[in-house]
Formats: sequence, structure tokens, C-alpha cells
Amino acid sequence: MSAYETLEILKDEGGWAEVVFNRPDVLNALNLQMVTDLTAALSELEQDADVRGLIFRGAGDRAFIAGADISELVERKCEDAFRAINAGLFQKIEDFPRPTIAAIGGYCLGGGSELALACDIRIGAEDAVMGQPEVKLGIIPGAGAPHRLTRTVGTGLARELIFTGRLVEADECVRIGLLNRVVANDALLDDARGTMRSILKNSDLAVRLAKIALNAACNSVDRRHMMLECVSQGITFDSDDKRQRMARFLERKKQKEQNANGGGEA
Ligand code: COA
Repeated sequence: MSAYETLEILKDEGGWAEVVFNRPDVLNALNLQMVTDLTAALSELEQDADVRGLIFRGAGDRAFIAGADISELVERKCEDAFRAINAGLFQKIEDFPRPTIAAIGGYCLGGGSELALACDIRIGAEDAVMGQPEVKLGIIPGAGAPHRLTRTVGTGLARELIFTGRLVEADECVRIGLLNRVVANDALLDDARGTMRSILKNSDLAVRLAKIALNAACNSVDRRHMMLECVSQGITFDSDDKRQRMARFLERKKQKEQNANGGGEA
């Protein structure tokens, strides 16, 4: 298995691989390098006969993925959105021929939540927090939330969550179907691994075919809808409102650095 700058890939003798998002200093924010790494890793894992399932998780104890990396997002233009990089990646996850489990501890926001929605099964720790806060930053979720969140929690709740951008705690996530279940923080990995083990005990062929049938049953979204999400997001990428909102987030970080360097004294 190749080495990746932003990911750790751990192959388990039980027949699955764990993909660990590895940028804990920024709550595993999804940057372009991680998208590139994950795209390549998925192609490699798909071809690996020893890998019959994937578990996704975040490094550190604070986040699965706290969204797209805002320091890159602030620079993104309309034409970047047209390339549909994240949407394409998440579709690749949904289409991964083997079962996928998102083991979610801590923040799972924006693109992180969209990635988890593309997985077959989502298991949360008690500290899991999910949400689509994009509108607070002046953009829309453009990589699957409008259709995958709608299909997961229903149209009314999907609209409420996307329009308000509010964050949803683990218990509510279970109640509305965003998470299959919630377990104690220190039981998260055991639970995800136990679930994978119980899947892998079954007929390999049957599980693969069941996934194809399930995807066909619920993946009724026309790919043109996906492009519409990207185009709409692209329009927001060029707005002043977006630049100002993201700048405010990044300014907070600069302020922290200045304070740490004693710059707050003047
Ligand atoms: N992009 C880039 N950096 C991010 C990030 C993101 N999406 N989310 C968190 N980080 C960074 C922070 O800038 C901070 O870096 P620093 O220590 O160098 O300053 C570090 O991760 C820790 O985050 P911090 O904000 O200090 O933690 P917190 O506990 O105060 O708040 C969150 C946690 C998740 C509420 C807050 O980080 C946040 O709102 N993040 C953005 C979430 C978001 O809008 N995601 C969707 C993007 S489209």
C-alpha cells in the first residue's frame, strides 16, 4: 500500500482496511491533498483482494472531519466548483464495491458529513456532532448533502439542517437516522470493527451484490442534480459575502497566533 501525506491506511487481518484522516491539528479538515490522497487510496483499495470492507475514521480525539479546509476554500472560485472534486470523490465512496463504515467521533461537519453520508453505515461516539454549516460561511453544501441528506433524514429535516446550519448532537443524529447508533467514546472502534466482522462472516458475493442492489434502490438521483449542486456552490464561491464570512473564521486563527506570540499586548 502506498504512503499518503494526509491519510494513514491500516490493513486488518480480519479482511478490512481502516482509512484514517490524518490532519488532527486542523480537526482533519479536508484539503486538496487529502482529496487527491483519498481518490488514489480508494483506487488502490478497490483492487486489493485482501480488502473486503473499509472503516473511515479521524485521527486524534476531536474530529472525524470538521469540513473542507476553509483556508483553501476561501480562495476557491466558481470554476473550481465546476470540477466537482469532492462530489466525485464522495460518489467514488458510495460506489466502492465493498461495505463502508464511518466511525464518527467528534466533529463531522460540512464535507465531513457529506463523506459520511456516502458511506453505507454510520456509527457515532457520544461526542459525535454532525451538521452542514456551509450557509454560515456564505456557501452551500455542494458535494451531496442536498440529495444524500434528504434521502437519509427526509426533506423537511434536510432543509432545516441546511438552511439553519445548526450542529446536531449524537443522540439527535440517531433519532433522525443520521447515525445508526451511538456508543461510548472509547467503544467506537470496537463497535465499528465488530460490525465489519459480522458483515465479513457472510458470503462475500452476497454482500457485494446486496450493495449493488441497495445502491440501485436508493441512488435514484440523476447525476445532473449533482452538477446542479456544484454549479450552485460555484456561484456562492465568487461572492463577497462568502469571502467576508470565511475571512472572519481565518482571522480568528491569526488572532490566536498573535496572542500566542505576545502580539495582543499593545
Ligand atoms: N478548515 C480549516 N481549519 C479548521 C477547520 C476547517 N474546516 N475546522 C477547524 N479548523 C482548525 C482551526 O482553525 C484551528 O486551527 P488553529 O489551532 O491553528 O487555530 C483548529 O482546527 C482547531 O479548531 P478550533 O476552531 O480552534 O476548535 P474549537 O473547538 O474552538 O471549534 C469547530 C471547533 C469545529 C466548531 C470550529 O473549528 C469550526 O467551526 N470549524 C469550521 C467548521 C465548518 O464550518 N465546516 C464546514 C466548512 S465548509
